[in-house]
Amino acid sequence: MLILGIESSCDDTGVGVVEDGRWLRGNSRLSSAAMHARFGGVVPELASREHVMAIIPAMEAALDQAGVSLTDCDAFAVTQGPGLLGALLVGVTAAKALALALSRPLIGVHHLEAHLYANALVASIEYPALALVVSGGHTAIYRWEGDGRLVLLGDTQDDAAGEALDKGARILGLGYPGGPAIERLALSAGETPFRLPVARLRRPQHPYDLSFSGLKTALAGLYRQYPDQSAALAHALQEAVVASLTEKAVQALVAERLHRIYLAGGVSANQRLRTRLAERASEFGGQVYAPEPAMATDNGAMVAAAGYYHWRLGHQMGMHEGPKTPYPLGE
Ligand code: KG4
Ligand code: ZN
Repeated sequence: MLILGIESSCDDTGVGVVEDGRWLRGNSRLSSAAMHARFGGVVPELASREHVMAIIPAMEAALDQAGVSLTDCDAFAVTQGPGLLGALLVGVTAAKALALALSRPLIGVHHLEAHLYANALVASIEYPALALVVSGGHTAIYRWEGDGRLVLLGDTQDDAAGEALDKGARILGLGYPGGPAIERLALSAGETPFRLPVARLRRPQHPYDLSFSGLKTALAGLYRQYPDQSAALAHALQEAVVASLTEKAVQALVAERLHRIYLAGGVSANQRLRTRLAERASEFGGQVYAPEPAMATDNGAMVAAAGYYHWRLGHQMGMHEGPKTPYPLGE
């Protein structure tokens, strides 16, 4: 079963071709991040326009790499949400046109679930497991019971983990996207004297909720006091985000009596997070799995992979359906 997957929820136009939800045949990603950089964040209108320009070239490149043509594809999968509405519309419309013209199934995929299925491109997923999705727009902890079956255990009450890094990077004058810049700069800092506070929530909605919004204020205050300490501050910010994610995920792992953590989303490219989470999970007999770093950020292959498992469940998207945003998962 060859599926072509399309991702257009934010600033990456991604198209991937995946066989049986496991084997990557082709993948192409065109990013408009550089264009948004000078505004310090994604400008939705610009992102939509760029998707319109990029979608056909990305598709051609992915098909070329896979050595197949559109008619070889057995189904088309697309990120249906959540994301920027205008951006999602481009991918959804393209996928609908393909499914309609070639009489193939159309499969709508939840963006966070697609991130999780980037793990299926490494090895088959074994259930039940804990799932930790950390991206620029979301931070969520799930109990992953099986294909298409997720139970939300924790969510961010304010900023997402990636957003905290992006905002922190902006404070430190590092540009967008901030996560990779923070990681690079943090590497150049040795042990640092700075500690940023890890928020404790008084009334969480879910048992393992998180909060990152306090980090900005704390970071900005320290940066005003120590303007020549940006590497040490980047290090402190990364440590605070990693500690907060790691502790909540490990608490959930133990309480849910699970032994596997599937990590996913753009922030899962972060090496410090991978290492620290693996260390802490192993203290409780847990093992951490993560996608290839290149497949951690938004891409079309993860959408194609997720599409396969939903197709197996008989899920299809109707031609009358549009993007869904907001689009709750596992609640
Ligand atoms: O999953 P993604 O590509 O898009 C969303 O769905 O949001 O995630 C983008 C986020 C951004 O916040 C970016 O700063 C962060 O992932 N990110 C990283 C790294 N690479 C990307 N954060 C920390 N370390 C990285 N190496
Ligand atoms: Zn994403």
